[in-house]
Amino acid sequence: MPGAIPQHFIDELLTRADIVDVIGRRIPLKKAGREYQSCCPFHNEKTPSFTVSPTKQFYHCFGCGAHGSAISFLMEYDRLSFPEAVEELASSLGLDVPRETGFAQGPDHRPLYEILERATQYFAQQLRNHPQSARAVEYLRARGVSGEIAAGFRLGWAAPGWDNLLDALGDDEAQIRHLREAGLITEQDGKRYDRLRERIVFPIRDARGRVVGFGGRLLGDGKPKYLNSPETPVFHKGRELYGLYEARQADANPDRLLVVEGYMDVVALAQFGIRIAVATLGTATTTDHLEKLYRAAPEVVFCFDGDRAGRDAAWKALQTALPLMRNGRQARFLFLPDGDDPDSLVRRIGGEPFRDMIGQALPLSEFLFENLASQVDMQTLDGRARLGELARPLVERLPPSVFRDMMRQALRERIGLSASPSSRTPSGRRPIRRPQGSIPPIRRAVALLVQHPELAQLELPGGWEKLDSPGIVLLQELLETARANPSIHSAALVERCEDTTTRQHLARLTVLDLGIPEDAPDQFLGTLRALSDEQRRVERESLLAKSRETPLTQEEKQRLRELYRPLSA
Ligand code: UTP
Ligand code: MN
Repeated sequence: MPGAIPQHFIDELLTRADIVDVIGRRIPLKKAGREYQSCCPFHNEKTPSFTVSPTKQFYHCFGCGAHGSAISFLMEYDRLSFPEAVEELASSLGLDVPRETGFAQGPDHRPLYEILERATQYFAQQLRNHPQSARAVEYLRARGVSGEIAAGFRLGWAAPGWDNLLDALGDDEAQIRHLREAGLITEQDGKRYDRLRERIVFPIRDARGRVVGFGGRLLGDGKPKYLNSPETPVFHKGRELYGLYEARQADANPDRLLVVEGYMDVVALAQFGIRIAVATLGTATTTDHLEKLYRAAPEVVFCFDGDRAGRDAAWKALQTALPLMRNGRQARFLFLPDGDDPDSLVRRIGGEPFRDMIGQALPLSEFLFENLASQVDMQTLDGRARLGELARPLVERLPPSVFRDMMRQALRERIGLSASPSSRTPSGRRPIRRPQGSIPPIRRAVALLVQHPELAQLELPGGWEKLDSPGIVLLQELLETARANPSIHSAALVERCEDTTTRQHLARLTVLDLGIPEDAPDQFLGTLRALSDEQRRVERESLLAKSRETPLTQEEKQRLRELYRPLSA
């Protein structure tokens, strides 16, 4: 743990930074009088209630109440911890964050970084000079790695023997302790020995270029093929990405980064001029990994084997990525031919075709829907309903964003709920007649119910009953009657109405063309959901209007936040 950040530095940082600049680099701001406005990045809205004040150096959202300084914005929006947000802001201003020294200071990791750096130099030098290193050099040459690329990645060689590194760097007990803490030597039955022996060594660098750990590959077959540094105070597999530092050295602001599985994939792609690859270190992609990647580039392309295991790993990565897909971020999926990894493929087809393949990678939305669609029978109504059930919870894991709205719409289209006549129909289906486009939703719901009273048995979304619109009460009464009489048919349902005018109205609705009968459940659910959404919007607006007159009570604030949360199911 580094020391605490002195308060005077935080004050200075907030004086020097311009909040308009900090926020404006992340979301589009529009000038409005003395302030700036935007749609709030923290909740979903269509009209801007998010304001940034350059004089107060403060942001505030009248919709959801989010507010704070440039630092709190970075914490919220970039999902950083306080020290990370301070670091981020400081580095954007070219400042170094000072740390308080003294008893509050945590352990000092400098000796670890130093010993790791010395080890890196030692291994690299062994690759050049060790009497037996010809085998290692030959191995790298056979795998197509040039001297330049090897030097760029600082590749090295841990020669055969139990204590080469220990002898070279373990000058005294303190150094030996550092070697052990850095994961470079192990101790067993009181005996110490080098962890990496007879392996090609891949130094893993952190965002600042400091070596934090190593991967080591056997030249021949054997187990384990790769040996990685253990977790140490400076090395965490769930956070580090092999090749990220090198990629950012090649281009500080890449359009995209490519996530691959192996060290050699990163190195081979670089050899072919594709310097955007990073590898996780024998683990699945974590949220921390993705936050790091999205701080470096707006798009992440996941590269996986085309086999079952690759598809499963990709699906896991998708689920990790969903909550992070804010506006401006993109994720795509590239599946390689069976039996290939990026290393073997790029060596076979070359850099340009590989680049084209990256360009063709599947967008997250397509991978999501196609993967789920392959699990159901899209030809049947049940299958499409099942797709809805599978996809909806995933779509709702997306943060509020234009992308989420698009995904919801795409889902409605795929399961055949869309009211838009131009929407494409899922392949192989009869096109849906959509005369309902012109029918107001409440009337459509009533019509569906009188034509199909059994719809009352479905599990229905709630909220719409609170709408203050003509027809809502009628819809509620019809639902109650139909629920209480599960086998009732249309005519009987209509006859139950005492009021003659209503009966005539309902009778007309029984013959209204509503499209394909099999689509009725989806239409009915979709319509009630739309009405419930509408009710939430109305209630939101009225609370917001009220908040301009008098401060909201605790309960009202709580309610407002609920209303901004996505409606489940
Ligand atoms: P692979 O087994 O797919 O190897 O492991 P690879 O990358 O194709 O290696 P080459 O081409 O045979 O050299 C992919 C990644 O999984 C981790 C490493 O990070 C490796 O790069 N791994 C694999 C281990 O950590 N240990 C192992 O024993 C094997
Ligand atoms: Mn490989």
